[in-house]
Amino acid sequence: MKSCLNSLKFSGLALLIVSLFAIGIAQAAIEGGDAKKGKILAKEKCKYCHVTGAEGGTMTPLSKTQRQWERFYSKDKHNKKAPGTWDKINPNELIDIMQFMYDHAADSPQPATCGQ
Ligand code: HEC
Repeated sequence: MKSCLNSLKFSGLALLIVSLFAIGIAQAAIEGGDAKKGKILAKEKCKYCHVTGAEGGTMTPLSKTQRQWERFYSKDKHNKKAPGTWDKINPNELIDIMQFMYDHAADSPQPATCGQ
């Protein structure tokens, strides 16, 4: 009986770990943006700083994996690298841009560049 109870506890714990993991995966996705709009917006709002020779250097969706884009966005890393440069970008437009980056990231099903 005791070992039966223990295995029950164990499967409960395993289930908890699995569900926490699933939540983790669900959170590690950029969702809700419009990637088509994002592609156009990226040319308008990012490209002038992100071409070869410009201050930000070359940057395309392929610059990062999906997980890296997610972390870059959620941890507000651009603000650390180039403070204030995203301030004028509307948050809804930014999510569209991030959706485009994410959907076409290096490890995405459809890797793409910004036409560079
Ligand atoms: C006003 C100029 C400017 C604009 C606009 C700008 N960036 Fe940047 N970005 C920079 C600078 C400067 C850096 C830091 C480059 C470095 O560290 O060498 C940077 C860094 C980055 C990096 C980090 C690259 C790495 O090595 O991890 C990414 C990704 C990035 N920018 C994406 C974007 C996106 C997406 C947009 C548009 C929403 C954007 N940037 C708009 C100037 C800009």
